[in-house]
Amino acid sequence: MRLTLDFTNMLSRAVGEHGITEEEFDRACKKAEAALVSLRAKRDKIRWRDLPYNQTAIVREIKATAEWVRSSCESFVVLGIGGSALGPIAVQQALNHPRWNELPREKRNGPKFYVEDNVDPERMAALFDVIDPETTIFNVITKSGSTSETMAQLLTVMRTLIDLYGEEHLKDRLIATTDCEKGNLIGIAKQYGLKTFYVPEGVGGRFSELCPVGLLPAAVCGIDIETMLAGAALMDAVCDKDDVGKNPALMYAMLETAAMEKGANVGVLMPYADSLKYFADWYAQLWAESLGKKRGLERVGQTPVKALGVTDQHSQVQLYTDGPFDKTVTFLGVEKYRTEFTIPHAVDENPNVAFLSGHTFNELISAERRATEHAVTASGHMNKTILLPVVSAETIGQLIMFFELATAYAGEILGIDAYDQPGVEEGKNMTYALLGKKGYEGKLGEMNRQTERSLV
Ligand code: PA5
Repeated sequence: MRLTLDFTNMLSRAVGEHGITEEEFDRACKKAEAALVSLRAKRDKIRWRDLPYNQTAIVREIKATAEWVRSSCESFVVLGIGGSALGPIAVQQALNHPRWNELPREKRNGPKFYVEDNVDPERMAALFDVIDPETTIFNVITKSGSTSETMAQLLTVMRTLIDLYGEEHLKDRLIATTDCEKGNLIGIAKQYGLKTFYVPEGVGGRFSELCPVGLLPAAVCGIDIETMLAGAALMDAVCDKDDVGKNPALMYAMLETAAMEKGANVGVLMPYADSLKYFADWYAQLWAESLGKKRGLERVGQTPVKALGVTDQHSQVQLYTDGPFDKTVTFLGVEKYRTEFTIPHAVDENPNVAFLSGHTFNELISAERRATEHAVTASGHMNKTILLPVVSAETIGQLIMFFELATAYAGEILGIDAYDQPGVEEGKNMTYALLGKKGYEGKLGEMNRQTERSLV
């Protein structure tokens, strides 16, 4: 059982003049073939592709730690941001009960789960209103080991735990996930004897969901991480095929980059399942941060937009149909939802409402997806559909690898480095300067020299 990609509606034969013509398709195919070759040449650098295959020992360790966490706490809190947070959120939302934290303990297959991925002071304070440090285990995740947001959260949590239980008990309540050498967290972890997991070399933040960054939080919440990795392995093999017609990630990258050339600067991902809502957030970071780059004097990239079907039909779809031809829409559908829910009979005497009765919510959401797909196509806008047979650990593993590879292929086609993030680093450095970190005084001068404010 694997995901499929239907790209018919990207083509001009389906959507008319704003679609990809046969000639453009053939040209894009050649670029895609070259991208396949150049990505293969980088194989030993893109170590995130090894993750489905080389983690037997680490998975054992993760499962053992997860068992300890599950049996010793009521709440599990991830401290992290960007690639150290979005994957854990997406996978938890996809694979566990949508109201996980509100479920009574006996119906919840693990502790309550929180991911703190911001430094809004109100949110930080609010966390301590809902958790009890006595029954909480924290997992601080930062590949670089130096991100200010995560470090500020870590300091807050450490102070609280040290004041309550003493330094020697930090290791009972705090787990670190970081680089084995670089950054500040590794030193702190060693100093306090924290259980530590490593982000392997060649696995960048936004490509790290399938390493301990994502696997530990998932395992703590009872998710079958081995099956997730098996799904990723299957997709890795499928998306290594030479024939672009049989390689969905390469096809996705090829069509999306061809669409960018035609002015599609916006790429909407619209899952038709609440369980996949945060998957769109994870994808948005992956696509934006990997592909939004300078290429010589040019700028490339595509702005990812996250939408939710059917909710955003009543918010965004007007724009997607009658608005400018500057976007593609990718529908993310589910063939079989995990629950079937029938719309009951209640007002049989009113046929304008009663027609719904006897149908299921499943039928309704699928019909709305197909109807919206039709409306977007009929209005001449390029779109495609990724269909998951079901949302499961296996298909989520597939979807993660699918988008990682699509992003990597798109990076090759665009001729940019998909694995750096100089723009993000610049913001991080400016923050250091503003908060007085030693060595960043020059940056402060740079900022002060910027144009005077124009205020109204
Ligand atoms: O993809 C990336 O590399 C970034 O978005 C990082 O995930 C983000 O900046 C957080 O970095 P770190 O995990 O080093 O704290």
